[in-house]
Amino acid sequence: MDLPIFHLDFLNNRMLIAIIAVTHVLINHAMAVGGIPLVAYLERRGMLDPDRGWDALAFRILTVFFVTTTTLGALTGVGIWFSAGLVNPIAIGSLLRVFFWTWFTEWLVFVTEVALILLYYLTWKRWRGPRKRAHVKLGFGLALASWATMALIVSILSFMMDPGSWHGDRTLFSGMFNPLYLPQLAFRTPLAMVMAGAAGLIITRASTRQDLALRHAATRAIGRWMLAWLPFTVAGGIWYAQGVPEGMRALLPVAMVTQNLTQWAGMATTAMWAAAGMIAAVALWAAVRPAGLRRWAVVLPALATIALIGTFERVREFVRKPYAIAGYLYSNGLRPDDYPLLQRDGLLATATYAQVRELTPDNQVDAGREVFMLACTRCHTVDGINGVRVALSRLYAGQRWDPAVIDRYLGVMHQARSFMPPFPGSLAERKALATYLAWLQAHPESLEGAQVSGVPTLPRPITASSARPL
Ligand code: HEC
Repeated sequence: MDLPIFHLDFLNNRMLIAIIAVTHVLINHAMAVGGIPLVAYLERRGMLDPDRGWDALAFRILTVFFVTTTTLGALTGVGIWFSAGLVNPIAIGSLLRVFFWTWFTEWLVFVTEVALILLYYLTWKRWRGPRKRAHVKLGFGLALASWATMALIVSILSFMMDPGSWHGDRTLFSGMFNPLYLPQLAFRTPLAMVMAGAAGLIITRASTRQDLALRHAATRAIGRWMLAWLPFTVAGGIWYAQGVPEGMRALLPVAMVTQNLTQWAGMATTAMWAAAGMIAAVALWAAVRPAGLRRWAVVLPALATIALIGTFERVREFVRKPYAIAGYLYSNGLRPDDYPLLQRDGLLATATYAQVRELTPDNQVDAGREVFMLACTRCHTVDGINGVRVALSRLYAGQRWDPAVIDRYLGVMHQARSFMPPFPGSLAERKALATYLAWLQAHPESLEGAQVSGVPTLPRPITASSARPL
């Protein structure tokens, strides 16, 4: 571990990434990947039927999409890699080594996308008459660029779940075309189109108060658009779900809810199907009876997609645990390949930024806290979300936390809970961590959240024994 540890105890580092990432995916899927083709489709309708007001409506929808994607969308997009790089720099570093050219291409495509959306938006009113056809084509070209940015990133997300034959040949090609790549892309693409429809229904409703004929025609068109993409979403979803490795599927109940709520996982799954069913029902209503579509019903698909995509991303992130990159790097930023070294020399001895380096009989609690920082805080806090104090109170309810008992638990923690990696350090460090955890019970007043945030110490020279991933 040769980078500093950044830790937010009140929030949990994973939650920081999750908030930014889910906001980004919502905006990107609904308003760029799905949104731009929807706008281009409506603009084309306006070209074929110039008297109806389609063109002005399409432009209004584009304005909302344009402003949102180029501000909050772009910021959160960068924010994902910024926050993930802060929380798990080793994982991002490893991904960067494999996907160097993918990321570089992504940057080129992204710049193209931004240039095209500016052009598309700013020329809307000027490219009229004979130039309208070219403008519609520009819209579809922009749609392709938006899709390409997602298509590149999806290869990285799916790689983290299952690198497939990359484990053997370590080539970029095998990394990109991993077993889950095409299924996940086949799911996200139509899903984005449906999400765009959900956003389009709301904007249409809000901006056609004066023109009910247009409202009904556009609502019908968007309802049909959603219905057309729904079967592909379901088919893509099934293909994707079937590709998820068996071991990961076993973690689904915990991924859907939390460990002590697993008995509710079935119900949560049913709720997700109900949300999907509701989207289909409203789309059908919009397509068949646009004039009767109630105001409350218009917002339901958008709310359902927020719940669905939030759950989907959470599950995707969780099921690959204990790994950040399946089979290659644990979520704690350490490689299984480095474990023998870490268990022999210790975590503290090999961590560049550790504040405690040597274990003595007097510094067990401080050393244990440092081990906790290195080995556990990529997933746990002390008192915040997924706090270890609460986890231990559950495990040893009504008992005194005994360091020897905790120490034994740490030895088998990865067997007790398959989503946790094995303890990475030496036996002496494991004992210090157990001492620290037991100390937490005896010191309920301790403000650990403030302490474990840690001030990085100066780097020390990297020695030959420092464990560094590839
Ligand atoms: C890859 C992420 C990850 C890492 C790393 C990790 N844990 Fe966990 N741990 C979890 C999750 C997730 C849970 C279950 C949370 C829930 O849903 O209640 C959990 C649960 C626990 C529990 C309660 C177990 C039970 O059976 O109820 C304890 C105790 C615990 N962790 C201790 C640790 C310690 C100590 C470390 C560091 C050596 C650690 N964990 C590292 C993810 C992790």
